[in-house]
Amino acid sequence: MTDRMGNGTGTALLDDRPAAPAGPPRLDRDALLRAQHETLATPRMAYGLLARMMFKPVDLLYGKEGSYTKFAMLETIARVPYQAWERMGYWAVHRHAGRSALARRVFERIVEARADQDNEQWHLLIMQDLVQRAGQRQSLLLHKVAPWLIAFFYYHVSWMLFLVRPDWSYRLNAEFEDHAEHEYMEFVAAHPELDHLPDPGTYGAEYGRHRSVADLLRQIGHDERTHKLDSLERMREPRVR
Ligand SMILES: [Fe+2]
Ligand SMILES: [Fe+2]
Repeated sequence: MTDRMGNGTGTALLDDRPAAPAGPPRLDRDALLRAQHETLATPRMAYGLLARMMFKPVDLLYGKEGSYTKFAMLETIARVPYQAWERMGYWAVHRHAGRSALARRVFERIVEARADQDNEQWHLLIMQDLVQRAGQRQSLLLHKVAPWLIAFFYYHVSWMLFLVRPDWSYRLNAEFEDHAEHEYMEFVAAHPELDHLPDPGTYGAEYGRHRSVADLLRQIGHDERTHKLDSLERMREPRVR
């Protein structure tokens, strides 16, 4: 008998390990266009004080209009709440270690938070690639120090909120994702030339390759919508029971 690895041992086959979450769905061209129109036809959420405390300085420092450098900055801080939830999740798993069903449900949320961090990481790498290809300059203060400071604020707000009112932590992230979704879709609408610029596909093997930079950005915008909807869903049952 040979096992899956082709070894001629008598070892019994293990059940297949469940795959990690695949991340947001990848859309075709028509669906991407539809997604853009849906976003543009949907008003933005009413952003609370904490969200506005982040969006205001971002607009002041990077401009109200979208740009690759502004998006790179937003993606730097986008994965922060998922990191905070991952950390809180491990703390909860540890606390509930004696109750396997509950610990498992908490762990499912950790896996989900990690998949979303990975998705945001690809967004960041893609944005950095577009910044470089467009030959745009990034300064130490504006593109390293400022994102770090805002990320620091966001991280601590996220886990502290999660501790006292997890639904508020999810709501804050939903607002952040809603903002990102609209920023991407509005940028694509304002730059029709991007429909004729081929997707360089630098991270095509990992993220998928689209026909144009416009479609690539629409896909990222749709990912943000998926993140938003997940957070709104989580708000309804914020604590794992
Ligand atoms: Fe993102
Ligand atoms: Fe996101």
